[in-house]
Amino acid sequence: MKSSEIKSKFISFFESKGHKAMLGSSLVPKDPTVLLTLAGMLQFKPVFLGQEKPPYRRVTTVQKCIRMVDVERVGKTPRHHTFFEMLGNFSFGDYFKKEAVQFAWELLTREFKLPVTRLKIAVFEKDDEAYDIWRKDIGLPAEIIFRLDEENNFWSAGPTGPCGPCSEIYYDLGEEFGCGKGDCGPGCDCDRFLEIWNLVFIQYNRDESGQLLPLKQKGIDTGMGLERIASVLQGKSDNFETDLFVPLIRKIMAISTAGESDPSARIIADHARAVTHLIADGVFPDNTGRGYVLRRLIRRAVRHGKMIGIKGPFLVDLSSTVIAQMEEAYPALREKSALIAATLKEEEDNFMATLDNGMKLFGELQEAHKADKKITGEEAFRLHDTFGFPIDLTIELADESGMKVD
Ligand code: SER
Repeated sequence: MKSSEIKSKFISFFESKGHKAMLGSSLVPKDPTVLLTLAGMLQFKPVFLGQEKPPYRRVTTVQKCIRMVDVERVGKTPRHHTFFEMLGNFSFGDYFKKEAVQFAWELLTREFKLPVTRLKIAVFEKDDEAYDIWRKDIGLPAEIIFRLDEENNFWSAGPTGPCGPCSEIYYDLGEEFGCGKGDCGPGCDCDRFLEIWNLVFIQYNRDESGQLLPLKQKGIDTGMGLERIASVLQGKSDNFETDLFVPLIRKIMAISTAGESDPSARIIADHARAVTHLIADGVFPDNTGRGYVLRRLIRRAVRHGKMIGIKGPFLVDLSSTVIAQMEEAYPALREKSALIAATLKEEEDNFMATLDNGMKLFGELQEAHKADKKITGEEAFRLHDTFGFPIDLTIELADESGMKVD
């Protein structure tokens, strides 16, 4: 099933259950507490909090998201990204846990026809209600329902705001993908159990002091990662092998020495999607805030391009592939294509002009600090100020060679 079909199947399934299909929001959120849109629920935060009237009681969206928490894992695992699309269904004071679980199960097992034997469930350890719904209403055996702790199964968009216990649905890729540890199961950090869908039972507002205040109206916020469900439905064990990434990876392979599972090629493909969408949504490279995220991603991509032998600028060309692939779903990409190209070109040219010299300096620092394995603040500043290395890049480089940055 092509990823575009997965999206439309998801949306039409929820439309058939009385949901209104709404547009996802910009990557630049209205919400001042987060830098970038990191989940489908973000545009509905005021609705969950009862500050705004729900547009509809039941809503479904496809939301483009950026999360920087996993940036260092991108390309090294089959399932992490900075930019991804999240398929979601929402209830604002309408249905709650039982229907949310029933809808998810029906879509996965009847529409997407996933084999039940591959699915595993996690619930928050104190959430007996959710446990009982899976056990009694859906009729699943106890062995496949796992009770996990707050870190795994309690979701919030940030330190404050709407939140609640959640239930996750995992796809078991099989023992060969596992870490082999005795306690390997859903929630394990290895690649065996792929979390495909998170159902959040929004019932609290966490205030500034960290207290959980019950919300007047409970709600549902779910998110299924398109890249992950696409890998499952396309019979791949790796998101980068899906139709969402193959055209980009092929293009990168054609201009580099990389093979198809080279982490650098994957990092570039991931970052190309992120930076194209960020610029389309009005972000410009900068030294702070969202602009810094964009700058960091562009410069990371350029450095990885160098590592796999790409000669000359390449990001503009890759962004045109992203645009061609995604413009139907995101028409702003085409409208902003000239701006995207100009912004990428300028940033890439600037960084390329200093990258070689910066890397030379970094090599010298490696030599000089063989014993103490520590780059001084002054040296990190010089890499930033003279050669345009964002501090995170210096830290990454240091990390790769077992060094620290003061
Ligand atoms: N907000 C939840 C998440 O991001 C579910 O959509 O996982």
